[in-house]
Amino acid sequence: MRAGIIGAGGYAGGELLRLLLGHPEVREIVAGSESLAGKPVTTAHPNLRKRTDLQFVNYEDVARCDVLFLSLPNGTHRADEFEGRAALIIDLSSDHRLRDPADYQRWYGEPHPHPHALGRWVYGIPELHRDRIAGAPRVTGAGCNATAAILALLPLFAADVVDRTRPVVVECKVGSSEGGREPSEDSHHPERVGVVRSFRPVGHRHTAEIEQELALGGARPRVDLSVTAVELVRGVLATAHAYVKSPLEDKDLWKIYRERYASEPFVRIVKERAGIFRYPEPKLLAGTNFADVGFAVDPRGERVVALCAIDNLVKGAAGNGVQAMNVARGVAEDAGLGFVGLHP
Ligand SMILES: NC(=O)c1ccc[n+]([C@@H]2O[C@H](COP(=O)([O-])OP(=O)(O)OC[C@H]3O[C@@H](n4cnc5c(N)ncnc54)[C@H](OP(=O)(O)O)[C@@H]3O)[C@@H](O)[C@H]2O)c1
Repeated sequence: MRAGIIGAGGYAGGELLRLLLGHPEVREIVAGSESLAGKPVTTAHPNLRKRTDLQFVNYEDVARCDVLFLSLPNGTHRADEFEGRAALIIDLSSDHRLRDPADYQRWYGEPHPHPHALGRWVYGIPELHRDRIAGAPRVTGAGCNATAAILALLPLFAADVVDRTRPVVVECKVGSSEGGREPSEDSHHPERVGVVRSFRPVGHRHTAEIEQELALGGARPRVDLSVTAVELVRGVLATAHAYVKSPLEDKDLWKIYRERYASEPFVRIVKERAGIFRYPEPKLLAGTNFADVGFAVDPRGERVVALCAIDNLVKGAAGNGVQAMNVARGVAEDAGLGFVGLHP
C-alpha cells in the first residue's frame, strides 16, 4: 500500500508514521505537513531517527494513495478537499463521528458544514463495527476518551444488563498529549506538571459519541462524562459506574466480558486477585494498541464499575486507525501493531 498522512507533523501523525513504517503491507508513505514541508520527518518526530529518511511534503502532494489518514484538528478542513486522493480515507478528527447532524450542532455549537456526507462514514472502532469497516471507503477515528469509555462498557450494553433509565457516570483521567502538539497556557510546564486538574467536569464532546455507540440499536443511554487531567504524557483511564437491572456477581461479569472480548486481538481483560497490576493501567500501555478492560461489582447492590485503559495516541488514535485500515483492506488485523509495551 501507499499510505498518505495529512497532518503528519502532529502527535497522532507521528504515531501513524511510527506504525506505518513497521507495517508489512505498506511499501511507501507520504507525510503531509504544511508547516514542515521540505524538512525531514525526524525534525518533528526524533524517535524515528535512523528509521527513515522521509521528508514532509505539502498537503497537495499527498495524492495517489491507497489509504489516506486525515490527522488534522477538528473542524479545520473539509474532508472533500481530499476526495479522489485515496480509495480509503480514515479521518481521525471528530468531524464525521456523529451520525445525527443535530448531535453535532448540540455538542460542537454550530451546524455541521456538510451533514449529507455523514452517512458515508463508518465509526471506526473495529470492536464495534468490524463488519461495516471491512471494505468501507470512509472510516472515522474515535475520541480517545470515547474509545476507553465505550470499550469499558460495551459488554454490559451488548448483554443488555444496564438499567437504561439511570445515567452511566464515566470519569476519564487523561495525559497531556491529548491536547496535541500546539502549546497553550495550561500546557506550559510549570502549569501542567504534577496536576490533578478537573479539565471538563461537564459538557465534554465525546459524550455524544459514547451515547451514540452504546445505544446498540436500543434506547440511547444517558452518559455523564467528566474528564480530569493527570500527571501522564500518554494514557487514558476510564472509570465507568453503571447501574444494572438486577444484581450481578463477578462470575456473571466474567462471562459477559469473555463473551464479548475473548476473540478480540487488542482487548485484554485485566482483573487479578492479587499483585499490583490487578486492574487496567495506562502506564503499561504506552505505545501499544491494547485496550485493557476490567470490572468490579459493588457488593452493596446494582453498581458495576467498568474500567478501560489505553494509550490515547495509539488505541485512542493512530493505532486504532491502522487497525481499522487493516480491517478495511482485508489484511491481518494486527499487522504493524505488534508492540506489547514496556515493563517496568
Ligand atoms: N491527541 C490525541 O490523543 C488524539 C486522540 C484521538 C483523536 N485525536 C484527533 O486526531 C487529530 C490530530 O490530533 P493531534 O493530537 O495529532 O493534533 P496536533 O498534534 O495538534 O497535530 C495536528 C496537525 O494538523 C495540522 N494542521 C492543519 N491545519 C491546522 C490548523 N488550522 N491548526 C492547527 N494545526 C493544523 C498541523 O500542522 P502541519 O500540517 O503544519 O504539520 C499538525 O500537524 C485531531 O483531530 C484530534 O482530535 C487526537
